[in-house]
Amino acid sequence: MSLSVSRRLAAVTAFAVAGLFASTAPAALAAPSAATAAPTPPDIPLANVKAHLSQLSTIAANNGGNRAHGRAGYKASIDYVKAKLDAAGFTTTLQTFTSSGATGYNLIADWPGGDPNSVLMSGAHLDSVTSGAGINDNGSGSAAVLETALAVSRAGLQPTKHLRFGWWGAEELGLIGSKHYVNNLPTAERAKFAGYLNFDMIGSPNPGYFVYDDDPTIEQTFKNYYAGLGVATEIETEGDGRSDHASFKNVGIPVGGLFTGASRTKTAAQVQKWGGTSGQAFDRCYHSSCDSLTNINDTALDRNADAIAYAIWNLGASTPVPPGPSFENTADVNIPDSPAAAVTSPIMVSGVAGNAPATTKVDVNIVHTYRGDLVIDLLAPDGTAYRLKNSASDSADNVIASYTVNASSEVANGVWKLQVKDVAAQDVGYINSWKITF
Ligand code: TRP
Ligand code: ZN
Ligand code: CA
Repeated sequence: MSLSVSRRLAAVTAFAVAGLFASTAPAALAAPSAATAAPTPPDIPLANVKAHLSQLSTIAANNGGNRAHGRAGYKASIDYVKAKLDAAGFTTTLQTFTSSGATGYNLIADWPGGDPNSVLMSGAHLDSVTSGAGINDNGSGSAAVLETALAVSRAGLQPTKHLRFGWWGAEELGLIGSKHYVNNLPTAERAKFAGYLNFDMIGSPNPGYFVYDDDPTIEQTFKNYYAGLGVATEIETEGDGRSDHASFKNVGIPVGGLFTGASRTKTAAQVQKWGGTSGQAFDRCYHSSCDSLTNINDTALDRNADAIAYAIWNLGASTPVPPGPSFENTADVNIPDSPAAAVTSPIMVSGVAGNAPATTKVDVNIVHTYRGDLVIDLLAPDGTAYRLKNSASDSADNVIASYTVNASSEVANGVWKLQVKDVAAQDVGYINSWKITF
């Protein structure tokens, strides 16, 4: 067994053990306890998203200049996306339908694992209009959702929810593909959707940052991402129901999404917050032949691709990551072998108003030869102990885990400590780093 495989197995075991602890232990514990939190979302490489856009542009160029429903460029687009997902370990399904006398295609990609009764789906329409390559509308959403799915695979993400991805056909003819998908879901299957996230036009050249005002949890998740960047958002109002989320919303599935604007004009007030050109459309090439590779604002596309990952990582987990600032201590602290007193690693927190959130997140990175020896607590500034992990006959190494702590009765500012006690002889290690997020 190679080193990388054994490391991966250790990580999977850590997740399972922490999950078991979370689901069985808290009620019995005297001290407040913790549950596993969402892992940290990755940065989605803009270059990878743009490489997909280049491929879609080439596909259009080689197929009469567009990727429209019923045209060769559409099927070639589907084949491109499907091949990437198949190679990354997704279970893909090509769904066909007929519209305007032509065969249409939806591509559905399931990431193996997660709760089959709680499905988080993300999607984008892959068809263009006939007048051009459709790089912003909607190569942008298609490429960003594709690259996020590939990032799920790279991370080996195993969230609580089951993740599904979709690329819709014939959106431009009236949401035909997504309606077909939803209409063919048995009622029992519809009930399993925790949510649907839609991404249609997310790299407009004169961008606005619009968040769909539908399901409040999804909306808040995107707003939290943008708040973290310090970028203002507005509610999407340029034609509510004009994209595939409407197909899901119509059958009662919670929806949300992002949008950077189509033919509507950017106001002077919007230029104040976002830059760009006032009095000009968010996308002057909307539904035109100039919706090409140059019709993309890289910053908008980059932010929105990262926002997709942020939403999937957080909404896919049972416990979301809090939106506030993080504080980290990366200094190593030796953990002496039992019998010995507990050791602590401090983090000074300042500038956080009020109390810690109910979903305070603690990331722990401990290098150790037998983690079952370790009892780990989070100490609040007033000394209150929150048990993160008990000792156990757990013969794996290292504690690399995230915990969610309900620390809402603690004032955030002050010195927090990670306390680690080794309660069994023989194996040793050190606190490598830890982080607290409010
Ligand atoms: N879906 C539209 C199209 O493809 C674009 C659009 C207009 C849109 N208003 C929207 C997309 C609001 C998302 C949200 O032509
Ligand atoms: Zn369009
Ligand atoms: Ca020991």
